Amino acid sequence: MIVDRTDEELRYALPCKWGLVDEDVLPAWVAESDYAWAPPIAAALADAVARGLTGYPPFDEGGELGEAYAGFAARQYGHRLEPAHVIPTSDVTAGVRLALDVLSEPGPVVMPIPGYPPQLSIASITGRERVDLVVDPDAERAEIDLDRLDRLFADGARTLLLTQPHNPWGRVFTTAELEGIRDVVLRHGARVVSDEIHAPLVLEGAPPHVPYLSLDGTADHAVAVVAASKAFNVQGLKCAQLVATDPAANRALRDVPMARNDSWSPLGVVAGVAAYTECDEWLGALRVRLSEQRDLLVGLLAEHLPDARMRPLEATYLAWLDLRAYGHDDPAEVVLERGRVRLSAGHDYQEGLPGHARLNIATSPDRLTEIVRRMAKVLVA
Ligand SMILES: Cc1ncc(COP(=O)(O)O)c(C=O)c1O
Repeated sequence: MIVDRTDEELRYALPCKWGLVDEDVLPAWVAESDYAWAPPIAAALADAVARGLTGYPPFDEGGELGEAYAGFAARQYGHRLEPAHVIPTSDVTAGVRLALDVLSEPGPVVMPIPGYPPQLSIASITGRERVDLVVDPDAERAEIDLDRLDRLFADGARTLLLTQPHNPWGRVFTTAELEGIRDVVLRHGARVVSDEIHAPLVLEGAPPHVPYLSLDGTADHAVAVVAASKAFNVQGLKCAQLVATDPAANRALRDVPMARNDSWSPLGVVAGVAAYTECDEWLGALRVRLSEQRDLLVGLLAEHLPDARMRPLEATYLAWLDLRAYGHDDPAEVVLERGRVRLSAGHDYQEGLPGHARLNIATSPDRLTEIVRRMAKVLVA
C-alpha cells in the first residue's frame, strides 16, 4: 500500500528535499516523506485539477474540512469535536503564529528545546521573548521539567508552545504528563498552543496520541494546530487547521482581519478532506512501514554506528541521533561533505548543541541502509 517513489520522481515531486541537494546526495533532512500519495488523495486532487479548482477558498467556513477533521479526531484519538471548532489556516507555522498573536498575552513564550527550528524565532516574530526549557542531552528520557515550567511561568512567561508528539524528541506525551503540564499552566492562568502536526504518526509500541484539548480543563486556555500535511505528504498544498473549542477563542481566531490570517489553498482542502475521510487504512499501513523503518534504523545503528545514541522513536519519522561519541562538532556537515547524505544539523534545533543530527527515515529500506552505511564510513575514524 505504501509506494516508494523513484529518485527521478522525487526530484520533481519534492523540490525542497530532493531538489536542494546535488544528485549524488541522499536527502534525509526536511520532514517530507518519499512515499506516493494515498490513492484517494491522488484521485481527489486529479479530479479537482481537471475541474479547475483554483479559486479562492470560501473564507468564512471550515464546513466540509471541519466535519472531516472532527470525524478523523473521533476515530483516531477518541476526541469529540464540533466541525465549527476547526478553523483553516495556511500552515501549522502560520497557525501557531496566529494563535500567539491573537490569543496570548504579551509575556514570554516557553519553548521546549531542542525544538523545530522555524519555531525558535516565532516568539520574537510575534513581539514576544522566548524562554527555553532545555532537555539535557544526557537525560534518559526527553521530558518537560514541570518544576522548571512552573518557575518560568512564575517569572512571567504566559504561553507554552507545546509540540506533541514532539519533533525532534520523537516522543508521544502520556496522559499523566499532559495532565501535569495542564496543572502547572492552570496554576498560573497561562496559555498553551499545542502543535499536533505529527499526531497521526504514532509508531508501533508507543502510547496513543492524546490531544491536549481532550483533557478536562484545557478548552479555555489552549488551541491546537493540526494538519494532514506530514502524514499524507501534502505540505506544499497549504492547508492546516486551528482547533479552538472555547467559543471566545474560536470567535477571536475567525474574526482576525484578512491581512492577519494566512489564507489556505482549495486544493489543500481537497487533500485534507480525502486524507481525513478516506485514508485510515493507508495511514495504518504507513505507521507499519515507518515502524519497520525505525526498527531497521535501530539494527543498522547497532551494526554500523554502535556508539550512536537514539532514544526510543515513538512517533514522527524523524530520528534524533546523539553522535557525540564520534567526536565531530557538526556530524551533519561531515556526513554531507564526505558521505553525500544530507541530515539536519542538531545545532539548528538547539543553539550550540554539539554532535547531534536528525535523520528522516521516511524513505525506502534500501535508501535508509545506504544512508547509515555512508554515515558510518565517514563518522567512524
Ligand atoms: C513540529 C512541527 N511543526 C510545524 C511544522 C511545519 O509545518 P507547516 O509546514 O505546516 O508550517 C513542522 C515541520 O516539520 C514540524 O515538525
